[in-house]
Amino acid sequence: MRVRGHLPIRLQAGPAIHTVGTVTADLFDPGAMYDDDYLHFFATSGAGAAPTHGAVVGTAYTGTSAADIVWRLLDLAPGMSVLDLACGHGVLANLLAARGCRVTGLDSSTIFLDRARADATAMGVEVEYVSGDMRELPPWTGRFDRVVNWTTAFGYFDDATNRAVLTETARVLRSGGKIAMDLDNTTMFLMSYTPSRITATQQNGDMLVDRHHLDPLTGRFEVERTVVRDGRVRKLTFVKRLFAFPEIRDWLIVSGFTSVAGYGEDGQPLKADHYRMVVIAELP
Ligand SMILES: C[S@@+](CC[C@H](N)C(=O)[O-])C[C@H]1O[C@@H](n2cnc3c(N)ncnc32)[C@H](O)[C@@H]1O
Repeated sequence: MRVRGHLPIRLQAGPAIHTVGTVTADLFDPGAMYDDDYLHFFATSGAGAAPTHGAVVGTAYTGTSAADIVWRLLDLAPGMSVLDLACGHGVLANLLAARGCRVTGLDSSTIFLDRARADATAMGVEVEYVSGDMRELPPWTGRFDRVVNWTTAFGYFDDATNRAVLTETARVLRSGGKIAMDLDNTTMFLMSYTPSRITATQQNGDMLVDRHHLDPLTGRFEVERTVVRDGRVRKLTFVKRLFAFPEIRDWLIVSGFTSVAGYGEDGQPLKADHYRMVVIAELP
C-alpha cells in the first residue's frame, strides 16, 4: 500500500518523504488527477489537444508538431525502439508508431491507456501499452534506443525520487541512447504566473479553475483544482517541480547522461521567452 501525502495549498516547507516498500509515496492522488475528467477537458479535440499545467495557457504544440520536433532532436528513424514514459492517452506514442518506430507507452492511468489503445486501433498503428510506474520500470535494461517524456510528465515526487526516475530511464536505454523531456520553461512560466486562473472551459459551462502556489524551498508549483462538470463540483490537488535548465542538466549528468542540450517548442536553442523547455540528453 502506498501512503499519499496531502497537499494543503500552503503546505509545509521542505519535502515530505514517506517511503513504503521501495516506492516513495505520492505527493498527490494521480487517480484523481489523470482521469476521465482530464480527458474531457484536454483530449476532446483529438491529436492537437495540449494540456497546460501552469500559468501559461495553450501555447506549445499540436501532436504533429511535437512529433516533428522529437523526430528531429532525437534523430529518430523508422524501426527504432522508443519508450514513451508517462505516455498519457498516447497522442505522441501513436504518431511515432505511425512514422515507423517500435513504440512502447508506459503510464499509470488505465483510463488513459484504454484511450491510447482505442486511438491506436483507429489509426491502424501498433503500440505496446503497458500499465506501470515510472519509479520502478519493468526489467527492460538496455532495451530502448530512445525515451520520450512529454508535456511535463516528470517532477511529481520528492527530489530523491525524481532523480531515481532519471536513473531508471538511463537503465532502460541502450548505450548511446537518448531521451527527450518536454518541461515548462521556468522563466516564461514565472513571468506569466497568476495566483489563480480558469484553466479550461467548455461551451456548456464545464470548467477547471486552479489556485496556484509556488514553494521556493522545494521548487514546486502546487495547484488546488476545482473541477466543474455537468453541475458536479469536486476538488483535487497536484504538484509539479519547476526546473531551471542547469539544474535538470546536472541531474541528468549525475544519472549517467552526457551532452545535455536545451531547446524551445520550435526546436531552436532555449531562450527565456520559449514556453516549453525540451531537454535532450544522451548516454555515453
Ligand atoms: C501531464 S500528463 C502527460 C501525458 C503525455 N505524456 C502527454 O504528452 O499527453 C502526465 C502523465 O503522467 C502519468 N503519471 C503520473 N504519475 C505516474 C507514475 N508514477 N508512473 C507512470 N505514469 C505516471 C499520468 O497518468 C499522465 O498520463
